[in-house]
Amino acid sequence: MIDEILPPWVASAEKFGDVPEETLFPEERPLIARAVDRRRREFVTGRHCARLALARIGVTPVPIPRGERGAPVWPAGTVGSITHCSGYRAAAVASADVARAVGIDAEPHEPLPDEVLSTIASPQEIAALRAMGDADGEVCWDRILFSAKESVYKVWFPLTGRWLDFTGAIVDIEPSGTFRARLLEADPAIATNTLPGRWVVSDGHIATSIALPRP
Ligand SMILES: CC(C)(COP(=O)(O)OP(=O)(O)OC[C@H]1O[C@@H](n2cnc3c(N)ncnc32)[C@H](O)[C@@H]1OP(=O)(O)O)[C@@H](O)C(=O)NCCC(=O)NCCS
Repeated sequence: MIDEILPPWVASAEKFGDVPEETLFPEERPLIARAVDRRRREFVTGRHCARLALARIGVTPVPIPRGERGAPVWPAGTVGSITHCSGYRAAAVASADVARAVGIDAEPHEPLPDEVLSTIASPQEIAALRAMGDADGEVCWDRILFSAKESVYKVWFPLTGRWLDFTGAIVDIEPSGTFRARLLEADPAIATNTLPGRWVVSDGHIATSIALPRP
C-alpha cells in the first residue's frame, strides 16, 4: 500500500502482522522496557520495516534510536519516517542526497470521532470535507485529512525541530489521490509554504505520504 504513494527514489517496507522482539537491537530494547504489549509490537515491527527499507537503499542494519520529541534518528545520510496503526506498520526512507524529508502516516479507514474533527480542521476544511462526502460517501475524507496533517508534521519536525499544531496547515485533498498542505507558519528550514502529498485507501486502511526532493 505505502509503495503506491511514494516516488521511486523513496524505499519502503510494510507489514500487516508483527515480527518477534528479538529483531530489535539491544540498544533499542530500553525504549520499550515499560511499554504495554500493543506498543511493544508496533515499535518492534516499525523498526523492522525501517531496516528492511534501509536495506533497499544499501544501508546495513543498525539501531534506530528515538530522538527529540519521539522522532526516529536515522543513519547518517538518510531520512525517513515510520507509521503504525492497528493491523498495519510501515517505514519509508531515502538517501539524503535525493530527499530532504519523508513523512508517512497510516490510519484505520474509519470516520474520525466528531470531537476530534473540530479540533484538527478549520471551518474551510470541514466545508470541503462535506462537499467531498456528498460526492463520494464511501471514503472517510475526515480521516484522510487527519492523516495528511500527521504526515505534514513528520516532514516538518525533522527539518525545523519545532512543534506544529493541527491548525498550522490547511490541507486541500484531491479525490484523485493527492493533497496539498499550505503551511501557515514559515520556517527557513522548510523553504516552501506548500507540501505536496499523496493518499491511498486499501483494505480498511488509509495511508498518506509527503516526500520532499532535494533540489
Ligand atoms: C508524532 C505524531 C505525528 C505521530 O503520529 P501517530 O498517528 O500518533 O502515530 P504513527 O504510528 O503514525 O507514527 C508514530 C511514529 O512517528 C514517529 N515520530 C514520533 N514523533 C515524531 C516527530 N516529532 N517527528 C517525526 N516523526 C515522529 C516515530 O517513528 C513513531 O513511531 P515509534 O515511536 O515506534 O518510532 C502524532 O502523535 C503527533 O504528535 N501529532 C501532533 C502534531 C501534528 O500532527 N500536527 C499537525 C500539523 S498540520
